[in-house]
Amino acid sequence: MPTFEYAPAPESRAVVDLQSSYGLFINGEFVDGSGTGFKSISPATEEVLAEVSEATDADVDAAVRAARTAYTRVWSRMSGTDRGKYLYRIARILQERAREFAVLESLDNGKPIKESRDIDIPLAAAHFFYNAGWADKLEYASLGTNPRPHGVVGQIIPWNFPMLMLAWKIAPALATGNTVVLKPAETTPLTALLFAEVCQQADLPPGVVNIVTGAGPTGQAIVDHAGIDKLAFTGSTGVGKMIARAISGTRKKATLELGGKAANIVFDDAPIDQAVEGIVNGIFFNQGHVCCAGSRLLVQESIASEVESRLKRRLGTLRVGDPLDKNTDVGAINSRAQLDRIVALTDAGEGEGATRWDNGCELPSKGFWFRPTVFTGVTQTHRIAQEEIFGPVLSVLTFRTPQEAVAKANNTPYGLSAGIWTEKGSRILWMADQLKAGVVWANTFNQFDPTSPFGGYKESGYGREGGRHGLEPYVKTGA
Ligand code: NAI
Ligand code: MG
Repeated sequence: MPTFEYAPAPESRAVVDLQSSYGLFINGEFVDGSGTGFKSISPATEEVLAEVSEATDADVDAAVRAARTAYTRVWSRMSGTDRGKYLYRIARILQERAREFAVLESLDNGKPIKESRDIDIPLAAAHFFYNAGWADKLEYASLGTNPRPHGVVGQIIPWNFPMLMLAWKIAPALATGNTVVLKPAETTPLTALLFAEVCQQADLPPGVVNIVTGAGPTGQAIVDHAGIDKLAFTGSTGVGKMIARAISGTRKKATLELGGKAANIVFDDAPIDQAVEGIVNGIFFNQGHVCCAGSRLLVQESIASEVESRLKRRLGTLRVGDPLDKNTDVGAINSRAQLDRIVALTDAGEGEGATRWDNGCELPSKGFWFRPTVFTGVTQTHRIAQEEIFGPVLSVLTFRTPQEAVAKANNTPYGLSAGIWTEKGSRILWMADQLKAGVVWANTFNQFDPTSPFGGYKESGYGREGGRHGLEPYVKTGA
């Protein structure tokens, strides 16, 4: 329990200049879409923030044409050095306007300001800086001979890290000489539209970046458009599979970054307090809306009750509430639909016989909220051990031997990430070798860096983003 209360420390909204409505960003300008509008709300208060256009097939077509013209006439002819200059410029503007982006991200998404301020936005800028550095060195990036862009790339991103996913997608695409049509998620379109302003401010040639807002049908129009050469998608496994089916037999390339059900594995020789911090960061960071979240805690049986009691004590101190308060640890659930999914899966966990606990904190009366929750007595067949909950919910399982930990960790259709907590270096190496996961963290969790590739096995998708590897899907090589 907290020993003292924190006074409210709200970040000011004044830095954000919200318009009441936004058009689509096509060929370097904001234009009226031909479809109807939809509203983006703050999930913490249900306040309507702005009205946004739902891009139709015709709007997507206009965006793809603009991207094609920009590709053939300007961007593919420009030297890597000059492309890099634009990327550096964008990166610097993102740093200069970081507070504005962080506040807008927390408003539109519901995530705590300390995360948008210290993680999402600085990392987004870092991805532009990192890829800017590659733009004139692609020949030396071991991508193969004669690396060249595909052309027009369609990019569809989710709502959990709106600006960061935009940066993961746009920075490598532009560095390698492609042009882009990007669709942000329907619940979090506002920072992408602010990024469109940054493109104007950076004098990026019109049509190199196009932003179309909308929901599934707009995304589908991008996937199906004949003028798209490559797709990059981050989101649910269901939509990822649909995209893979839609492009089979076409010349379109795709990278898919899908779900996860990561094991965070704690051995009896781990420093328990540090492991508890890692467990908390692993599943309660960003309300658990994280594809690589450590949503399954595998704890060695001999220390299970000790870890459990220290974890619950720690969760009692988490501050849940106003995303714009600088002391907030856990913000709002991104949407009513996502809250409904979390409720349905946690109800299923109880129904299947697992024991439910939450930290009992007070929740605001408006908006979408879910208390930090822990399930113990979870078995491998429970839905809460198999399915991605994508919320602040931890499922605890136990093991006795390292072999059993590996077998349980790998017993999932996913394979995006994993964590290992132990004093023993040789065990870390052995475990990392056995775990079928794209990223394995040792004595830490949820560490991200633009220089490090990220991606999954199995139903977590294919392709890598970040690092030199993240350039590969954006080029073709050979004669
Ligand atoms: P979603 O996959 O529907 O949404 C992701 C993006 O895909 C959004 O921009 C959406 O508009 C777009 N989209 C939706 N239908 C499409 C279609 N037919 N064609 C092209 N684009 C389409 O994910 P949703 O429904 O918001 O979340 C459902 C679950 O997916 C979550 O509970 C979570 O388990 C998982 N998820 C995983 C993410 C990750 O980072 N791996 C991100 C978001 C959701
Ligand atoms: Mg919103």
